[in-house]
Amino acid sequence: MRKIRTQKSSFAIVCGIALLFSLGLMAVPGYGQSLTGSWVIEGKTLDNGEQPKSIVELKQDGSTVTGTLKTLGYSVELKGTATGNHFEVFANWSTTRPFLAGDLVNGELHATERGRNPIVAKPSTSADAMPLVPYIEPPPLHKIPYNGLAKTPPMGWNSWNLFAGKIDDQTVRTMADAMVSSGMRDAGYIYVNIDDTWEGVRDAQGNLQANHKFPDMKALADYVHSKGLKLGIYSSPGPRTCAAYPASYGHEVQDAKTFASWDIDYLKYDWCSARNIYKNDALQPVYQKMGEALQATGRPMIYSLCEYGWGSVEKWGTEVGGNLWRTTGDIRDEWSSMIENVEKQVPTAPYAGPGHWNDPDMLEVGNGHMSNDEYRTHMSLWALVASPLLAGNDIRIMTPETKAILLNKEVIAVDQDSLGKQASPVKNGDVETWVKPLADGGVAVGVVNLGSSAAQTTIHASDLHLGKVKKARDLWEHKDVKFTGDGYSATVPSHGVLLLRVK
Ligand code: GLA
Repeated sequence: MRKIRTQKSSFAIVCGIALLFSLGLMAVPGYGQSLTGSWVIEGKTLDNGEQPKSIVELKQDGSTVTGTLKTLGYSVELKGTATGNHFEVFANWSTTRPFLAGDLVNGELHATERGRNPIVAKPSTSADAMPLVPYIEPPPLHKIPYNGLAKTPPMGWNSWNLFAGKIDDQTVRTMADAMVSSGMRDAGYIYVNIDDTWEGVRDAQGNLQANHKFPDMKALADYVHSKGLKLGIYSSPGPRTCAAYPASYGHEVQDAKTFASWDIDYLKYDWCSARNIYKNDALQPVYQKMGEALQATGRPMIYSLCEYGWGSVEKWGTEVGGNLWRTTGDIRDEWSSMIENVEKQVPTAPYAGPGHWNDPDMLEVGNGHMSNDEYRTHMSLWALVASPLLAGNDIRIMTPETKAILLNKEVIAVDQDSLGKQASPVKNGDVETWVKPLADGGVAVGVVNLGSSAAQTTIHASDLHLGKVKKARDLWEHKDVKFTGDGYSATVPSHGVLLLRVK
């Protein structure tokens, strides 16, 4: 009798599980025990009225956790650990900051995403599945001619580092005003670039419209142009941008025409959700498609590739019509992130030159989480590696120190040098020496102290292969300095820089 009852109850359990399967609830993770399962995060309502979801698939094996996070905008592979109810999982681009970190609480994941956004993930159901997108074959490869732009690294301002999703027409206008009144424009910062979250929805003809935050993009471009500045915009080769807004997949020609009709001067084209459709072998043809579409409009637009350096972009970026390409993941306003990004430039050095630049991401100078010494190092390194100089701070309220960094014309001149060479470093313990050859036959030399205490350094003229030094100038002190014999010695503060121009 007892045996029969057990069989009956086992049968009931099996039926119960089958029912859960049919309801799509089988992904329910082991409450309180394991992270294994499929979880859904309800997204915030976007500025175009849509409310996208994200799905996190996790597998826990002892203390090891692996999985993926998929949003409409991108997907990330995750790897990390769980201890008790606490877990931390990392994307492959950062070993220091978890992509998701949090706790399993009453069958829900309460976590922080990328150290910033609090999220709650609940067990997902089949109703949460991502929409299916038809595959579009990438075009055959052919070379897109140079558009003649960006003979020196592009300079300007971009909305993302400071505002992320909180950017609108009015803010862009006041920022354009400040670019003029602060002297940024006259120092060469010309492009005012709107990053992600400007997008609305497509109209009946498939034309992408801006959302309510940008009521008239053409009028905004007219305003920015009236200030002697240029306007940049942002999209993705995937169906969605990284922030999950509609993007250019299957609409490349149409969107390029829209951007041209708004008098846009610069496009940042961010891989994002293209990753949910293509592998890295499609990067080049997919970027070529938009390169071609931009040129077909007849309007000169700088073409900025943003695919985090995947697929050795530095080797083919020019062939798709690119003027610059990101070589790294996203910068953060932190010393370690800034240094990590610039060090990733080292193998890309031979590929920089007039018209085509490696891009270690936008500046964080003035955003408040690094010291002024660190920001001076940031600016010096970006100039030495001939990086685009796209300020990412609030130009309207700069401190005198921030102004002195961003508006240092002697450092800007190193970045904008017409020879277009990218510096490479020589390491000596905690001290790195970066040397950039300049068009006048001289060099810029930056000595960076990565250590936690001040370092004494000597620059030897013989190491710079310059013969006798006729003139040397400290570009932060704004004064000429003297080499005695072969050398010049100075003390470099922790995380600080000595930047000389030597001839
Ligand atoms: C990616 C890019 C960033 C920014 C955001 C916008 O993360 O790398 O620079 O454009 O997308 O969503």
